[in-house]
Amino acid sequence: MRRLRLVLPRYNHGMTVNHVLGQLTLREFMRTYWQKKPVLIRQAISPFKPVLSRAALFALAAKDDVESRLITHFGAQWKLSHGPLLSLPPTTRKGWTILVQGVNLHHDAADQLLSQFRFIPDTRLDDLMISYATDGGGVGPHLDSYDVFLLQAYGRRRWRIGKQRDHALVDNVPLKLLRNFAPSAEYVLEPGDMLYLPPQWAHEGVAEGECMTYSIGFRAPSWQELGEAYLGFLAEQVDLPGRYQDPQLRPHTRPARISDDMLRQAREQLGSLGGKPRDVLIFLGEHLSEPKPSVWFPAIRSSMSLQTFNNAARKAGLRLSRQSRMLYRDKYIFINGESLRADGHDRLILQGLADERSLSPQVLRECSIDLNQTLLDWFGQGWIRFA
Ligand code: SIN
Ligand code: CO
Repeated sequence: MRRLRLVLPRYNHGMTVNHVLGQLTLREFMRTYWQKKPVLIRQAISPFKPVLSRAALFALAAKDDVESRLITHFGAQWKLSHGPLLSLPPTTRKGWTILVQGVNLHHDAADQLLSQFRFIPDTRLDDLMISYATDGGGVGPHLDSYDVFLLQAYGRRRWRIGKQRDHALVDNVPLKLLRNFAPSAEYVLEPGDMLYLPPQWAHEGVAEGECMTYSIGFRAPSWQELGEAYLGFLAEQVDLPGRYQDPQLRPHTRPARISDDMLRQAREQLGSLGGKPRDVLIFLGEHLSEPKPSVWFPAIRSSMSLQTFNNAARKAGLRLSRQSRMLYRDKYIFINGESLRADGHDRLILQGLADERSLSPQVLRECSIDLNQTLLDWFGQGWIRFA
């Protein structure tokens, strides 16, 4: 069984790890704490030698290919500026901190330190961020969506942590600070001590005198982010030869209706790319009703009330603007790239508008209030006009 020793022989850069959390092994750490609860590991790396001097960190923060931030908390005011940080407040001034992201990308010893955490798969590894703070400095109470090991490298830092449901943020500050931070534990870390925090644990670290902290962060992609990227990836792979054909087409009496044949062919071709049959229909309707790129609808900035609009429409009737493209199929109505569901009599009225490209005053009297409101919206966008 391997102990929670952070030195793997292949990546050793000279540090030794003497102490672990009691008899905590890597296996125990993963089983009991990883992604489950915080743990403080006193002297995780001992003796600990910082991989970077203060001057070297400041020099990195001044480079334009390095991501850095300066956060000051002077008086009661939080301020954030992004690097390159060419000038910093004096180190004798309390209440400021710099954070330098991805130090491992720029510095060998930092890269080696990070590689000691490869007992977590590379797919999760993000970067080594190093912060420097003067007395009282910190980034305020917050949550991270990453797992993080907070390794104290120099000086002392007081960490307060807690698992809270209330994620409300302070208004009008440039940082995402928790409005009601309610810590349940507090630790002062000395060089070599390390605190592990799973995602979404509220925390705040305040420097006690000058200090440097290394954050070894582990990313966990959101499914939304992965899903969007995956669809982009699939889009590049699409290979669907041929195009829609309809040599068997007969004269249409409902010109705006998406035909059975078109829907069937689209479902056969696009269905293989994923999505549900309904998605293919909605996509098809929205896509095929998209106006030509050169089309521009002069919006009618009308403050007309629904009542006035109804009265006028019921007198004159309505017609689709020449540029409007309107289609329908089943319960879906498509207009200028947008879709809506319509039921009952409203559906028939809208299908009539799509086929005839106009609505008579008489038919307009049969519209529901919802449909009237929709028509007023379309009127405002320049999609329909008084006949
Ligand atoms: C810091 O090092 O000051 C901030 C690290 C963190 O809270 O994630
Ligand atoms: Co944090």
